[in-house]
This record gives sequence, C-alpha cells and structure tokens, in this order.
Amino acid sequence: MPEQYALIIGSGFEQFSGNADGECVETRFGRPSAPIKEVDIGAQCVLSIARHGEPHSIPPHAINYRANLLALRDAGATSVLALNTVGVISTIRDSGQIAIPDQVLDYTWGRQHTIHDANDGSLEHIEFTEPFSQSLRQSLLAAAVAAGIDCYDGGVYAVTQGPRLESAAEVDRLERDGADYVGMTAMPEAALAMELGLDYACLTMIVNRAAGRGDGPIHDDVEASTSTARALAESLLQQFFANSGSGRQ
Ligand code: HPA
Repeated sequence: MPEQYALIIGSGFEQFSGNADGECVETRFGRPSAPIKEVDIGAQCVLSIARHGEPHSIPPHAINYRANLLALRDAGATSVLALNTVGVISTIRDSGQIAIPDQVLDYTWGRQHTIHDANDGSLEHIEFTEPFSQSLRQSLLAAAVAAGIDCYDGGVYAVTQGPRLESAAEVDRLERDGADYVGMTAMPEAALAMELGLDYACLTMIVNRAAGRGDGPIHDDVEASTSTARALAESLLQQFFANSGSGRQ
C-alpha cells in the first residue's frame, strides 16, 4: 500500500491549499481548521489542510490540532508533512533558508495535546525519543539533494505559545536549552500525529532571526526573507512529489 501524503499548510504556503472546495468534516474532537482538500503536486494527489484556517485567522494556541490530524487520518493520510515558519536562534542557518529539524522542545501550555483524554478508555505512553519520522525526514532530505537545494539536516525546534514573538531573554533561555529554531506550531502536532500512527516531519522555512539575534525589526526580516525560503520549500516539495512511488498517483 503506497503512502498517502498530507500537507499541513502553515503561514506562507497558501499556494498548496488547493483550488477545489474541500470536505468540511466534524471529528470526535470537533471541527478542523479548514476543509481537507486534494492538491496535485507533481504526479501526486496530496491531501492538504490550512492549519490557521481559511482565511488565515486561527492563532497557534487556538488551532484544533487534534481535529486536524484525525480528519487527515480519516481521509486516508498515512504520512504528514508539516510546513512551518520559524525564527532561527543559533548560527547553523540564516533567514531565507530551510531545514528539516530532528528534535523538539515544547514550551506550549493549555493546548489539547493528546488523543488519550480518558473519554475513550485508551491510554498509551508513546515513545517520543525521536519526535519526527526518520524515514520521512530522509526522503525529504534526499529530494533536497536531488534538486540541488540547500536544506539543513536537523536542529532543535522550540515551540512557544505565541501568538506574540519572544523577548530576547526568552530566546537566550531557548538557546541555553539547546534550541536552534523557534516556532509556534510543531507541538502538540508532532505528538498527536505519533499517537494517531501517522508518520510526521516538519519542513521549516526560516523567516527571521529570533528576538535579540537580528540587526533590525523582526517583521522587516520576515518580509525580506519569506519569499526566498518559500521558493526553496516549494522546489523541494515539487521534487519530493515528482519522485515515483512517493504517494498515490
Ligand atoms: N518566534 C516564534 N515563532 C516564529 C518566529 C519567531 O521568531 N518566526 C516565525 N515563527
């Protein structure tokens, strides 16, 4: 059985949200952020959901991550590629570049972070030593190499609550904790995907230097860097889905 890929579209990736009307579903965790759509990328038919809703309006802490992932799984997804924008903390990368992180630090709070909420009598303590699917990460990195795209292999993604950006001191603390990137959406998404038996990896667009790390206002950095990082991510996805065998035709 081939993989059925799904994209979770973050800020700046709206071009992958598909044109057709998608299906509005209700899950046992409530309504997803947006309808699930089918998008043709390369030779593949890929499922897609807009994480922040359509139009883009749901802040990171208010996203119904459980409904989004359950709806994708119920629609047949087996492998989820999450597109996220992040700021960079360490010097491994710079604004305008892309990366496939391999670790996560979770600073979020008050989000519905498990499917085991005692309502269905199930409980499982998933092993989260490797929060992202290694096979999916390696396939993405192989696509980057094939396309001649510079995509960083690894790094620690710190997930903050948002929607505000961090203070410089908070970023200093994240750095002391070992974080390379900071964003707002990979958790609880990665853990929920694992609980639901889905392969999951993040393709991160680095759109700014984190608070206290850049030379000017963060939003200027975001404005200057987003289109470059987005173009790299888009090319990587085109290559990934052009590969034969990577998904249902
Ligand atoms: N902090 C948190 N989330 C982000 C950032 C940031 O600097 N940039 C893009 N998403």
